[in-house]
Amino acid sequence: MSKLLVTGAAGFIGSNFVHYTLKNKPEHQITVLDALTYAGNKDSLKSVLDKITFVKGDITDSQLVDKLVSQNDIVVHFAAESHNDNSLIDQWPFINTNIIGTYTILQAIRKHNKRLHHISTDEVYGDLELDDPHKFTESTPYNPSSPYSSAKASSDMLVRAWVRSFGIQATISNCSNNYGPFQHIEKMIPRQITNLLTGERLKLYGAGQNVRDWIHVDDHNSAVHTILEKGKIGETYLIGANGEKSNLEVFNLILKLMGKDASWLDHVKDRQGHDMRYAIDSSKLRTELGWAPEYTNFETGLRDTIEWYKNNQWWWEPLKRQVEEKYRKQGQ
Ligand code: NAD
Ligand code: DAU
Repeated sequence: MSKLLVTGAAGFIGSNFVHYTLKNKPEHQITVLDALTYAGNKDSLKSVLDKITFVKGDITDSQLVDKLVSQNDIVVHFAAESHNDNSLIDQWPFINTNIIGTYTILQAIRKHNKRLHHISTDEVYGDLELDDPHKFTESTPYNPSSPYSSAKASSDMLVRAWVRSFGIQATISNCSNNYGPFQHIEKMIPRQITNLLTGERLKLYGAGQNVRDWIHVDDHNSAVHTILEKGKIGETYLIGANGEKSNLEVFNLILKLMGKDASWLDHVKDRQGHDMRYAIDSSKLRTELGWAPEYTNFETGLRDTIEWYKNNQWWWEPLKRQVEEKYRKQGQ
């Protein structure tokens, strides 16, 4: 049994991590630290609030972080500003949360000699050409493109430096694009699903050739538990499920699964500096730690996700108008 401090668990992946842990690893005790920014929603944990301790607070608050880290065994650090489009408009929250927030956690980990698992992204490696035969591996050089991914890359570098210089017990994982329940409707898949559910058309950036490597959020979280249990301190593990798809392919699948034709698709303004392709080689995690994904059929996982958004309108509907208003102003 471990006492887990989970940062950012009112967000998409963190809330799923809490549900996954309670279901599959019930021996752990969970404390959540989340600032409930625009991206956090305590309702994502509504059904389990009596089984966890929820603390509303900021990861840059050093006194609070120090106290919570001292009271727990392991920090699983999800909290971040996570949306690329937002990082093109206002950079400060990304610098503050992703860099200063991670620094604040590292100092507490070092002081109290606790274990950290730092959650990061494949975007730190930059992007690949569509016809590049290679995928990202743990030894691919860092080359981030956006303010979001460069702030995440900075946080990874801090973790690596604290491991090397101060000998803290930390592991890092860099995962590809997640999909599943409780994802904020600003993100590509839930935005399109909820567009169709509200009678709006799909909004595809540019020509839609860009490729993302999709993984179900439960597979990401099972990999995180594998790393917590078997990962080697100081190591980085890439998490991916061989789910490469162009955005256009995903849009067409959403149209098909929701019974609409191509006339429901709009091409809108492309993202500035838009990364072309991400692709993960997760051999290290699979061969050294014995992990494998369970959701190997993207269409099935996407169908379940569509059902979830259909059945949980209460969760996303209050945000929809405001999110679309913001995109409209950006021409997207
Ligand atoms: P999200 O935006 O859905 O959730 C982020 C959560 O962090 C929110 O609950 C928010 O309230 C909280 N938060 C933000 N700033 C905070 C602060 N200063 N103090 C405390 N809490 C704060 O993000 P997500 O998609 O769940 O991503 C979680 C992590 O996984 C991030 O570190 C992200 O970089 C990483 N990641 C995401 C993906 C993906 O596809 N979504 C893929 C790989 C890695
Ligand atoms: O690769 C991991 C990353 O995946 C995470 O680190 C990020 O936190 C997460 O947000 C995600 O980043 P992306 O920028 O890839 O995700 P997003 O859902 O914003 O966009 C996915 C693709 O879809 C991207 O090529 C842009 C495009 N897009 C996005 C939106 C919101 C559209 O075509 N239309 C849209 O409306």
